[in-house]
Amino acid sequence: MLRMVDLIQKKRDGQALTKRETTWMIDHYTQGEIPDYQMAAWAMAVYFQGMTMAETADLTMAMVASGQQIDLSSISGIKVDKHSTGGVGDKVTIILAPLVASFGVPVAKMSGRGLGHTGGTLDKLESIQGFQVEQTQQNFVDQVKDIGISVIGQSDELVKADKLLYALRDVTATVDIIPLIASSIMSKKIAAGSDAILLDVTVGSGAFMKNLEDARVLAQTMVDLGNAVGRQTVAVITDMRQPLGTTIGNRLEIAESLAILEGAGSPQLRQFIAELAQMLLQLGGVSKSLDEILAHLSNGAALEKFKQLVVAQGGDVTELLTTPEHQTAFSKVVLSQQSGYLTAFDALTAGHLAMRAGAGRATKSDVLDLDAGLRLFKKIGDQVVKGEPLFEIVYNHADFDADQAAAQMLAAVSISEEKIKLKEIVEIIK
Ligand code: URA
Repeated sequence: MLRMVDLIQKKRDGQALTKRETTWMIDHYTQGEIPDYQMAAWAMAVYFQGMTMAETADLTMAMVASGQQIDLSSISGIKVDKHSTGGVGDKVTIILAPLVASFGVPVAKMSGRGLGHTGGTLDKLESIQGFQVEQTQQNFVDQVKDIGISVIGQSDELVKADKLLYALRDVTATVDIIPLIASSIMSKKIAAGSDAILLDVTVGSGAFMKNLEDARVLAQTMVDLGNAVGRQTVAVITDMRQPLGTTIGNRLEIAESLAILEGAGSPQLRQFIAELAQMLLQLGGVSKSLDEILAHLSNGAALEKFKQLVVAQGGDVTELLTTPEHQTAFSKVVLSQQSGYLTAFDALTAGHLAMRAGAGRATKSDVLDLDAGLRLFKKIGDQVVKGEPLFEIVYNHADFDADQAAAQMLAAVSISEEKIKLKEIVEIIK
């Protein structure tokens, strides 16, 4: 007869739990038979002692088995999924998913909501009038069969153990533990049913992983977990020292995504998305050059797929395409106080600013202001002349202190004589 106190002690003393012990622990925790205080003690022991790869894999698969598993086998082709460990201004899924689907590779994607300084794809999609992210499993599968793409919210039935454990980790200072992050993310990806997975592991101030070494370990752990259970998995480590693209905020990011899908927008973001698309297509068994991929952004093919996605999930495409810019009650444009080259635009500060302006949630129950956020007029490497606009804060709440927020953002912006070049993709881990 296993006892949780013995497993905690074993982990505390630096030993690895067996598969039987890990599975027993997750089963009993999910069924409410192990109290939170014992799971919290185990998580803290993991913080200090770590976990072996075998233990991490056992934990992941025990978590997968704790809830529903999506069966995508009735959809023909290699189904691909993509996941980001979280970023600021990260609208990659909204562009990448239809772009990849426009080449006939089926994308069956479950996304999450934003919390804290990071945004969530679901919130962004919901800023499109009528767009429904809650779908039944049957609708999800049928839609991928019909149009080759679906992006929905994760079912509450999926990986029940992670829901409990994540909430517990959040309040016991045990979130930032690589094997627990890896098993949390990969259990959800494996349960969601796709055959191949592209992981975007962000690194930098705006990300979970603050340094490259940790990002590498997390990426490799997740890649090994995916491949070990027959899901072809590749990770890219991407730079999140500055926000991605030129907007942060839900409707602002939808508008920016539309611009990219129309072949416009920031050339850097377009190139980055094309590089990710090439990897995701490769995982889906389709080999394309970057030029061929970029052509789907300029010839309307990816945009058409995006429109199909919006229509299939109840969104109002006409409203979306005719009124991309919603006006907010207030706006503050901040000018550069010096000339030179931008060398820092801190993503974490920018993410917090956008959140406080109304674009994000400090707690899960906060209501979003879908129009609020931040526009960036300059990115790292750009030349800037004193008096030129650097960024703009847009918001609706009169009690938001835009002057103070602008001063904090300015303090996290650096301008110098030296031009630095920042590349979104830092490393690829296979
Ligand atoms: N995202 C997750 O889904 N789980 C973690 O543990 C951390 C980030």
